[in-house]
Amino acid sequence: MKKIQVLAPATIANLVCGFDILGLALDAPNDNMEIQLRNTPGITITHSDAFGLPTEPTQNVAGVAVQALLDAYPNKNIGVDIVIDKIIKPGSGLGSSAASAAGAVAGVNYLLDHFFTKEALVQFAMYGEKLASGVKHADNIAPCIYGGITLIKSIFPLDIVALHVPKLYVTVVHPQIEVKTSDARQILKKEVALKDAIKQWGNIAGLVAGLYKEDYELISRSLEDVLIEPIRSILIPCFDEIKKAAINCGALGGGISGSGPSIFMLSKEAITAQQVQLRMQEIYTKIGLQHYTYCTTINTNGIQINEL
Ligand code: HSE
Repeated sequence: MKKIQVLAPATIANLVCGFDILGLALDAPNDNMEIQLRNTPGITITHSDAFGLPTEPTQNVAGVAVQALLDAYPNKNIGVDIVIDKIIKPGSGLGSSAASAAGAVAGVNYLLDHFFTKEALVQFAMYGEKLASGVKHADNIAPCIYGGITLIKSIFPLDIVALHVPKLYVTVVHPQIEVKTSDARQILKKEVALKDAIKQWGNIAGLVAGLYKEDYELISRSLEDVLIEPIRSILIPCFDEIKKAAINCGALGGGISGSGPSIFMLSKEAITAQQVQLRMQEIYTKIGLQHYTYCTTINTNGIQINEL
């Protein structure tokens, strides 16, 4: 039986103003997994990393996603063996659960000669997100599978729009604290004021228009979140200081990556993105907070599969 290596990219959900509807894929970091089919039913999951994630398929985001795929596949005698080497830390806000779920279903689908569409893969992978955060959302899954920047216009029914990707550099800092997506969703207000909603959809429309027009000024003006960031940012040490410092370096803007605690900033030039990275490092080093940083670009291909 053929064995494949799957590289599933980290993703940034929300893109500041587009809570649950916008996301992009990063060139780094990537989760790494090996997948093989067999002619007997069942799923096995093994981890070669040290995160101690569940290996029982019904408790594992890759497991439930692959099970959903197998349930929809006509041949019931197929089983799957998955070995996961997680690089994207769980609870980082960089789409760790999405990378596992999306990577696993994309890998199995490759071995099944692309039986399912990308859209179907998003549907299967969302079972993983439901297990991880309590709700189905596709703003990490869709960019992971499609690559680039995606708009999830709706999940019921699923309607994904791949957006234009201008040249952008992305700087990410991941302070070493864990924020569970389920907790970060729990603290949000369930209702919004109309005046705030008007601001927010102005920003979303502005951001999408800015991407298409490659209008960096418009992108910059639209990277504002009046609904979610004011509530969630209190969970992230030095959030305001990092954002201010990045904008002083010349970044276009940015904010919380997904549900945090990672913070991301977009820049037009590589040199700006590198300066932002240095400032992020300085700020967390000053308060003695361990952190990782990434200075990367947008992954326009999504999941990469190599035959072993
Ligand atoms: N849109 C989701 C949230 C992404 O912000 O809760 C979680 O990664």
